[in-house]
Amino acid sequence: MPNIVIVGAQWGDEGKGKVVDLVAPCVDVVARYSGGPNAGHTIVVADRRFVLQLVPSGVLRPGKKNVIGCGTVVDPIGLVSELDGLAAAGISVEQLYVSHAAHVILPYHRALDQAMDQERIGTTGKGVGPAYADKAARLGIRVGDLLDEDHFREKLEACLPVKNHLLRACGRDTFEVEEVVKAVRGAVERLRPHVADTALLLHRWMRDGASVLFEGAQGTMLDVDHGTYPYITASSASAGGAAPGTGVPPTRINGVLGITKAYATRVGGGPFPTEVTGDLGELIRARGKEYGSVTGRPRRCGWFDAPLLRHAVRVNGLDTLAMTKLDVLDPCHAVLVGVGYRYKGTTLHEWPGEERVVAKLEPVFEERPGWLSETAGLRTWGALPARAHDYIRWLEDLIECEISLVSTGPGRDETILVEPSCLTRWFPDLRQLCLP
Ligand code: IMP
Repeated sequence: MPNIVIVGAQWGDEGKGKVVDLVAPCVDVVARYSGGPNAGHTIVVADRRFVLQLVPSGVLRPGKKNVIGCGTVVDPIGLVSELDGLAAAGISVEQLYVSHAAHVILPYHRALDQAMDQERIGTTGKGVGPAYADKAARLGIRVGDLLDEDHFREKLEACLPVKNHLLRACGRDTFEVEEVVKAVRGAVERLRPHVADTALLLHRWMRDGASVLFEGAQGTMLDVDHGTYPYITASSASAGGAAPGTGVPPTRINGVLGITKAYATRVGGGPFPTEVTGDLGELIRARGKEYGSVTGRPRRCGWFDAPLLRHAVRVNGLDTLAMTKLDVLDPCHAVLVGVGYRYKGTTLHEWPGEERVVAKLEPVFEERPGWLSETAGLRTWGALPARAHDYIRWLEDLIECEISLVSTGPGRDETILVEPSCLTRWFPDLRQLCLP
């Protein structure tokens, strides 16, 4: 079986959790490569709903190995409460491996995020940005550092004066070394048996024939380099992040599956050219239950943005796409798609990237008639109305990428495989899993 990356093609919340959970039976290992507790991967199994933040979405499939890679940032206390929640739901986390090289989020990171970034950028306030900033500034503390309390103390002694200086400047409380050590001591003991050199483990498993699904978090437009900077998360959320974020070399990655909604959403600040406000925005929000799974914030909603998706196809090297939430558009008399942008009197046909340009884009829309019939829960391509076929084929032409899976609801079986496709070539067993 090949090693495939699953990546969000928009601003996150595309439904990666559902797709990773769906594909997980076809692989041996699921490895999360970026992000932290800012993510909320929702998976519905029968009538149970799970929201995973850092634990990979393969955990609901018994027998699969799950890795939290070195490209993530780990909040030890948050991770332990996530593990407790899974244990209470009867889910085994025995085969969960946490990279010793992943950086940790400590209480001062959360305080700094809330003081400096939450309002300015609209962050989740979970400490993610400041933890990645420390990683780059060589002030970070890694999971492996926590395992020896004296060593952890020394690391804190080196970085806390800098952090406290910043906190004081923001008018916030400062932190003592012992206070931080004590805050995470219990969580460290709980996590100790899971900590490993996961890059080495992945190498050995793959050498012995295991296949790996690389699970991204957030989405391409929140990527630190390829997203709408500075309104981004602080990690390499796009597919390229999978190699450094796990220690698996890029030469061992065989393909990339992008996930997109049938429309677009974003949560937090920043440009969103195809955003729709008013009644239509409300309708999409209500039908799509578009509220952040981590913060509960209402998500901004809008139409599918084709040049933005083409950008995602390019920077991720998408081989194929899964489209989620088609059913949300069922009552729309017309479906619109952003096909370009107006900027200072000219029309742009590609995503411009530059911050000062992106901030001033006006969308250029084209529209088609809606299908006005219920697609929720449909399981075969043939069952979709002709106008929904037209919509999907239109998008494929616009973005120059095939759509190989259409999700018509949150459940595992509310899924349509579109054949022939790259996806079923990679994972022929998906046919059995999605069989109506
Ligand atoms: P941070 O990742 O908490 O630093 O937030 C930076 C930006 O990314 C903000 O606009 C957040 O709303 C957004 N963001 C972070 N995680 C997610 C996610 O999982 N889904 C959608 N947006 C996210």
